[in-house]
Amino acid sequence: EEENTLDCSGLLHKLPKEIYEILDIAGRVGDDLNIKTYVVGGFVRDLILETENWDIDLMVEGDGIAFAEVLNTYFEGQLKLYHKFGTALITLENGQSIDIVTARREYYEYPAALPKIEKSSIWSDLFRRDFTINCMAIQLNKREEGKLIDYFGGLADIKNRKIRVLYNLSFIEDPTRIFRAIRFAARFNYGIEEETQNFIQQAITQGMIAKLSTDRIRDELLYIIREKSLLNSLLIMEDLGILKGIHPDLGIDDGFAESYSKIEDTLSQFKGVLREPNPVLLTIMLMLSNFPKEKLDEVIGLFSINKAWANIIYISLSNRNEVYTKLREDNLDKYQLYKILHALPEESIIYYYTDCKNPYIRHYLMFFSVKLRDIKTFITGEDLLKLGIKPGPSYTYILQEVLKAKVEGNIYTIEDELKLAKDFYESLKGE
Ligand code: CTP
Repeated sequence: EEENTLDCSGLLHKLPKEIYEILDIAGRVGDDLNIKTYVVGGFVRDLILETENWDIDLMVEGDGIAFAEVLNTYFEGQLKLYHKFGTALITLENGQSIDIVTARREYYEYPAALPKIEKSSIWSDLFRRDFTINCMAIQLNKREEGKLIDYFGGLADIKNRKIRVLYNLSFIEDPTRIFRAIRFAARFNYGIEEETQNFIQQAITQGMIAKLSTDRIRDELLYIIREKSLLNSLLIMEDLGILKGIHPDLGIDDGFAESYSKIEDTLSQFKGVLREPNPVLLTIMLMLSNFPKEKLDEVIGLFSINKAWANIIYISLSNRNEVYTKLREDNLDKYQLYKILHALPEESIIYYYTDCKNPYIRHYLMFFSVKLRDIKTFITGEDLLKLGIKPGPSYTYILQEVLKAKVEGNIYTIEDELKLAKDFYESLKGE
């Protein structure tokens, strides 16, 4: 077996004291129980990249449950055992968690011509994972402390900045890895290795994305949207057919790139004007800008963490063209403007401002937000009652008339409002 034996002990010793201490004790417990003990996965990747990641995943070649029980006698944390899987979770008082898994051996079918090769458990367990950069381990037993186990070329791929799967069926076996490839490529600014790209495309052609539940796809999409360099991720997803694989009408174009580049600018212009809108939500609306309205139902669940989000997305997108048409009319007065926009969520206003290229419409949106959006009448139905006005449908007309005068800037004080209410009521009676 090929194996790279880079010495990582220097990197281990650079870790914060309390993290190193956990690994140190794990190594000693491994020695005591005569079990090979490793830290694996994202922790190793980020250790090599010298990026903070304190999610400790331990892997042992032996009884993981017994190992976890002994390890926890040193920490007296909360211990959860999952006997069926041979896994355990220790949670320390400070919130630090330590995952323990038992390396599982699996037997693979090799083409008949090849001899059946016996692999170690650690090899088998690492081979089940997603990308080479995530499949390294560092041994913790004291005599081998810091020894890097890199069966699949993870270190080379870190150097070459490549996301690479271990075997051709990886995406078929676990289609979420299609999205994970994008996420890690974006996070580290790595490329996706050529053959891996082909495997992604083959998996999509075989309809593997449709096999994932809406929830899984949404979780993965949101991870991607929250990583940096989203535009780049989306371009790669478009390029590899991932967006079309999610839904045939999903795609991004130059228009998206342009609006996306304006998000920060928009947010800063609306700072203090509207409540802090969620940039992720804004991004999603821009991504769906050209999506056919009548099919929104088919994708909205893939992008919404809850009903409220789904609603905002739906309202913003389905009203967009109508709002633009109304705002394009000449000589809108303030009350007309108010009526067009006041029932919409703030996120719609910001979305339109980012999406729309027409400077007049953008001006109206900003003017409304700064000057009109918060206007309310002082008086309510209670006050009309006190004025001796008989309750009924006329209340609606009267309060509307007062609001209109206020939006138009014709009245200011509560006395103005009461007077107008009274006068207007008289005129109604007169009719
Ligand atoms: N893994 C996998 N296939 C998946 C999910 C996870 O093979 N669909 C493996 C990866 O090798 C990964 C490990 O399980 O290293 C832990 O998964 P996760 O915590 O999601 O990955 P991290 O690498 O820790 O990613 P992050 O930095 O985003 O937490």
